[in-house]
Amino acid sequence: MNPKLTDWTGKRVWLIGASTGIGAALADELARRGARLALSARSAAGLRPADVPGALPLPCDVTVPGSLAAARDALLAAWGGVELVVYLAGDYVPMRTEDFDLPAAERIVAVNFTGAMRLAATVLGDLRPGGGIAFVASVAGYRGLPRALAYGPGKAALIHFAECLHLELAPRGIGVWVVNPGFVATRLTARNDFGMPALLTTEDAARAMVQGLASGGFEIHFPKRFTRIMKLLSFLPYRCYFPLVRRFTGG
Ligand SMILES: NC(=O)c1ccc[n+]([C@@H]2O[C@H](COP(=O)([O-])OP(=O)(O)OC[C@H]3O[C@@H](n4cnc5c(N)ncnc54)[C@H](OP(=O)(O)O)[C@@H]3O)[C@@H](O)[C@H]2O)c1
Repeated sequence: MNPKLTDWTGKRVWLIGASTGIGAALADELARRGARLALSARSAAGLRPADVPGALPLPCDVTVPGSLAAARDALLAAWGGVELVVYLAGDYVPMRTEDFDLPAAERIVAVNFTGAMRLAATVLGDLRPGGGIAFVASVAGYRGLPRALAYGPGKAALIHFAECLHLELAPRGIGVWVVNPGFVATRLTARNDFGMPALLTTEDAARAMVQGLASGGFEIHFPKRFTRIMKLLSFLPYRCYFPLVRRFTGG
């Protein structure tokens, strides 16, 4: 379905959303495996070129038109090409109808979805067979969930977008992956006020992503003990899905 990425030695990888959390851990994991890394986020200070030797810092804001394109131009000027691009930039604010905050919702969708489309438009012409583009979405994008106004719909759109791209690019040997993590302990999930089942460390998440990229599948989801339940729920008809989700989440 997708190329199997197993040998990282000398592979040129651009991570967008790499200053903290899962992206920072993925940078460490890939650097250990011999990849060359370009790291993007808004905070230049967070891009830690000292921790990831030889990394190319490319500060950018995915919500600002032209910012990703300028970073891509700097990347090509430095490297001449790129094998894998990974979109991890994301934002999350738990939101229910009683605290629905439209400016915050628009900001979340701009980072979690519009930025990903903008990235695809920016790098599509640079992708080559054997490499490709991966998008970090979430199991929160499978179906509607409580407290997930804005976050859930943005992630659902991202999964759908990745599916559309995959249909077109996979026959040309260009990989398109969607990554759907369960709960990972980062500054984003620190905003949750509920117990998170099967919570992973960022290092666990990075290792699961690397394993998934080696497997040749389209979707990389983890931890399986949690994501398989979410998948099962997502297949249910609404009359079963809504009461079960309310029961499990108290929502
Ligand atoms: N943690 C989880 O349980 C979980 C579960 C499922 C999916 N995810 C997804 O995994 C991805 C990484 O999240 P995380 O949990 O590791 O959170 P995180 O630590 O907050 O990382 C988010 C990254 O995105 C960058 N970013 C945010 N806004 C940006 C913007 N406008 N332009 C460029 N970069 C931006 C941040 O850096 P700056 O702030 O410096 O820009 C940071 O590097 C997100 O897409 C998230 O939705 C997380």
